[in-house]
Amino acid sequence: MAQQLRAGMVGMGMIFDETYRPFFEKAKTAGVYDRGFGDIDVQLAGVATKTGKRAEVYAQSAGDRIHRFQNFVGDQAADQLAQSGVHFGCVATPDDRHFAASKVLLEAGAHLLVEKPSVLTLQELDQLVALADRKGLLAKVVYHKLLDPDHKKLRTLVHDNVLKHVNNGYCSLLEPKQISGAQFSEWITGRNPGTYVAVHYIKLIDFTFSGKLKTVMASGQRGIVGPKDGPTWDSTQMRMVYEYDDGREAAFDIHTSWVTPDNFPGYVEQEVQFRFDNGVWNGHSRKRGVELTVEGQTPTKLKTTINTHYNGTFVEPWGERSQRGYGIEVIERFVREVAFVEFAGSSSGRAERLAQMRKLSYNDLASDRQVVAAVQALEAILDRAAKGQPDCVVRVNDARGGLVLCPPGSNECEVLYGPRIS
Ligand SMILES: NC(=O)c1ccc[n+]([C@@H]2O[C@H](COP(=O)([O-])OP(=O)(O)OC[C@H]3O[C@@H](n4cnc5c(N)ncnc54)[C@H](O)[C@@H]3O)[C@@H](O)[C@H]2O)c1
Repeated sequence: MAQQLRAGMVGMGMIFDETYRPFFEKAKTAGVYDRGFGDIDVQLAGVATKTGKRAEVYAQSAGDRIHRFQNFVGDQAADQLAQSGVHFGCVATPDDRHFAASKVLLEAGAHLLVEKPSVLTLQELDQLVALADRKGLLAKVVYHKLLDPDHKKLRTLVHDNVLKHVNNGYCSLLEPKQISGAQFSEWITGRNPGTYVAVHYIKLIDFTFSGKLKTVMASGQRGIVGPKDGPTWDSTQMRMVYEYDDGREAAFDIHTSWVTPDNFPGYVEQEVQFRFDNGVWNGHSRKRGVELTVEGQTPTKLKTTINTHYNGTFVEPWGERSQRGYGIEVIERFVREVAFVEFAGSSSGRAERLAQMRKLSYNDLASDRQVVAAVQALEAILDRAAKGQPDCVVRVNDARGGLVLCPPGSNECEVLYGPRIS
C-alpha cells in the first residue's frame, strides 16, 4: 500500500499551469518512487485562490487527470487550506503575498515550497526559517534555472575549478509587454520586473560563485506600465558586487524588462556572460538551438525561440504524450525531499533526514539570505527613487548594520536590516 502525501496549492496562475499542474497530473498516474522511500501517492488535495474560478475551470477540464481537490476562495483561503491537513503546501501567489501564505502553511505543520523570490525582506525570511525549524519542517524555494542543464554545466566547471575566479558578468531577461499589460495586470501596480525575474540570476550568481554580497545598486525606467513618476517600473538595471575569500571582488549587472514588444522574436529572451581569470561563459536563449516559424502562430501563440529544456509538450518516441523539463523537475525534486524526510526510514531517523535535506543550499530558505538581501535592497532603492531620491546604494554588512541604504551625498543612511547577512 503506497504512502500518501497530500498537497495544497496557493495561487493557480501561469506558473501553476506550466509546472505544478503537469507534475500533479503525472504523479496521479505514475506516483513518485524511490528505493529509499518506496511508492508515494502524491495527491493535490486542495487549492486556495482569490476567486476560485480558475480552479473550477481546471477541475472541470482535467477530469480524471487530477484527484478531486477542495477549492478554497477569498482572503482566508490560504488559512483554510493550511488547516485542511495537507502534508506540504506550494505558494505561487504574486511575490508580495508569499509571506502570509507561507507562514500559515508552516504554522499548520505543512512543509513549504514557495515560488521565487521567496519573500521580500530578511525580516520575513527570518520568521519563516525559525518557524520551519521549530516545527521540524522543510521550507524551500523554487529556483528552476539552477536545474537548467546549461547552468548546471556552468556550476560544474566552476566547482571543478576549470573556470577560475569570476571577475564580472551580465545577465539580461526581457519579457514581452503582454506580461505586464495583461498577464500580471491585477497585481502590477507598485511592482518591478527586477524582483520578479532578476532574482533568478541573483540566485544563479549567488549559488554558482558563492562569495559575500557587498553592495547593491539599481536604476530603472517608468512611463509605459504606469506613470513616469509612479511606483510601477517598466525595466530595471541592478548591479551587485561580491567579495571572495581571497579578498578579490566581482561585479554583476542584471537587466530586466517586461515591456519588450510582443512580437519580439526572443519572447522571453535570456542572456548571460560571465568572465573569469581564464575564460568566458556565454549563454543565450536564442542561440541555444531552436528557432521556429509557423505562419500566423509565431511568436505569440507558438514561441519562436522555444525553450524545450524548461518545459515542453511532446509526443514521446514510444507514442505517449508528455510534458517535461527542468521547470517541472524542480517541483518533483522538492516532493522527493519531503518523501525522503517522512518515509525513507524509521521515525527515529527523521530529524537526521530533515537536517540532511535542509543542508541543500540550492533551495533551502535558510540559504536564501543573500538573495533576499539583494531583493530587499532593490525594492528599497526603487522605492526611494519613486519618492524622488534616486541613486541610493545599499551596503551589506557594514559597521551600521547588515543592510544599509545610503542616499547620494548624505550621511542619513537607513538600516534596512540590523543583523549581519552572512
Ligand atoms: N519559477 C518561475 O520562473 C516563475 C515563472 C512565473 C511566475 N513565477 C512566480 O510564481 C508566482 C505566481 O506567478 P504567476 O505567473 O503564476 O502569477 P498569476 O498572476 O498568473 O497568478 C497568481 C495566482 O495567485 C492567486 N492569488 C493572488 N493573491 C492570492 C491570495 N492572497 N491568496 C490566494 N491566492 C492568491 C491568484 O488568484 C492567481 O491564481 C510569483 O511569485 C512569480 O514570481 C515563477
